Amino acid sequence: MTSHRQGWFENWRLFWVLSLTLAALCIWIAAMRQFEVEGVRMVIRFTARTSLLFFCLAFSAAALARLWPNGWTRWQRRNRRYLGVTFAASHGLHAIAIGCFAAMDPVGYSAATSAASYIFGGIGYAFIIAMAATSFDRTAAAIGPRAWRALHLVGGYYLLFQFMVPFGKRIPDMPLYALFLIPLVAVFALRMISMAQKGAPRTAQAN
Ligand code: HEM
Repeated sequence: MTSHRQGWFENWRLFWVLSLTLAALCIWIAAMRQFEVEGVRMVIRFTARTSLLFFCLAFSAAALARLWPNGWTRWQRRNRRYLGVTFAASHGLHAIAIGCFAAMDPVGYSAATSAASYIFGGIGYAFIIAMAATSFDRTAAAIGPRAWRALHLVGGYYLLFQFMVPFGKRIPDMPLYALFLIPLVAVFALRMISMAQKGAPRTAQAN
């Protein structure tokens, strides 16, 4: 077993500090627009972006620690569960803001959504809930390691795709949105490279 010195910013403390900070920032952003619909839409966009950050940190952690083992990547790998649950909390705030948008401006809301966004977004939320619910020792043990791995692998790749679509479809109007695709492509590439190295025969690795 490898031993490490536990830092202050780890485990559930990491989750609570990040999630409460996100919640406070959402309130602050909405307050900047007097809690009117434009402020709520800013919160939707803000939480989509914070979700992207925490999703990428959690989903790249094992690959990064394998490819470049150092203090930061080991911290990231140790805390990937808490980074993942922080992603779920950030998307919980996205859902609350979506609910407020729908209630405050039903016409604007229906113009901003479609049947596809309900179906694909709904599947995304089902994965997020299932993955967050199985991020505790007891619930993870209850479904068993094979089912846990399948759920978190399929769910992770589905969410990667789920981020690419809304960011990608804004690129024709706002080309800078292409920047949001960079971390998603990087995470995918890192996972593929790490998987290829893991699968490579030892003799080939030694060359
Ligand atoms: C039923 C579920 C969902 C609904 C109804 C929904 C609704 C919305 C709406 C209305 C916006 C546009 C806000 C605006 O322009 O003012 C938005 C933006 C976005 N959503 Fe969601 N969403 C859902 C689920 C998801 C999921 C599961 C993800 C990713 C895992 C996601 C990622 C995004 C992204 C990346 C944006 C673009 C943010 C930006 O413009 O910077 N959404 N969503």
